[in-house]
Amino acid sequence: MADGVPVVTIDGPSGSGKGTVTQRVAAALGWRALDSGALYRLVGHAVAESGIGFDNEREISKIALSLNVEFNDGSVVLDGTDVTDRIRTETAGNNASKVAAMPGVRAALLDWQRGYARPPGLVADGRDMGTTVFPAAGVKIFLTASAAERAQRRYKQLKEKGLPANLAALTAEIEERDARDRQRAASPLVPAADAVEIDSTALSIDAVVEQVLRLARRAYPDRA
Ligand code: DC
Repeated sequence: MADGVPVVTIDGPSGSGKGTVTQRVAAALGWRALDSGALYRLVGHAVAESGIGFDNEREISKIALSLNVEFNDGSVVLDGTDVTDRIRTETAGNNASKVAAMPGVRAALLDWQRGYARPPGLVADGRDMGTTVFPAAGVKIFLTASAAERAQRRYKQLKEKGLPANLAALTAEIEERDARDRQRAASPLVPAADAVEIDSTALSIDAVVEQVLRLARRAYPDRA
């Protein structure tokens, strides 16, 4: 992390609301936002497209090191192709979770992620932002919600987009992904020792955003 750059990390399981909270907090502070899950989703997508097996860590790590990605105004372009929607599917999430268990892939993405810490500040969301990528961050949040609530949120999102959705299948997928993310040896999903845990099951997004902003302003009174 660039010395002295303010960083807020927001880690937690999928569907806890961390993506939305991160974007809102970054916008309120005028800081940059890093969606680190998108990087793992991009690697998973590139692997699926390449025909390389998901067991070939060596080749997959090479792919992670050489990704040619552009982020423009909310769209994600990989090798000249817009993959914004394609990396958001459940399949892409599962492929991301598989490559994310590989130490070689995590190492390949480390410097890239740290490069996002530039003035005036960064809000970074993921699974290991507070434990591994930005261990010196001034504010670390671990955002959770029950699996049932997270599946319900995802179900609502899909229905709103007119996409097919099955609540039981979504709950099972969320639990499977959580288990893999929590149990892997490389940077598992665990709260940093100095993280503030927020359970969003019964909280509105506004309430969570307010709480994170209060902590950011307390930690960085001159810059937030
Ligand atoms: O946040 P997300 O659902 O877009 O993340 C997709 C997958 O990537 C998730 O199952 C775990 C992995 N991931 C990770 O291991 N470390 C991160 N910092 C971010 C995501």
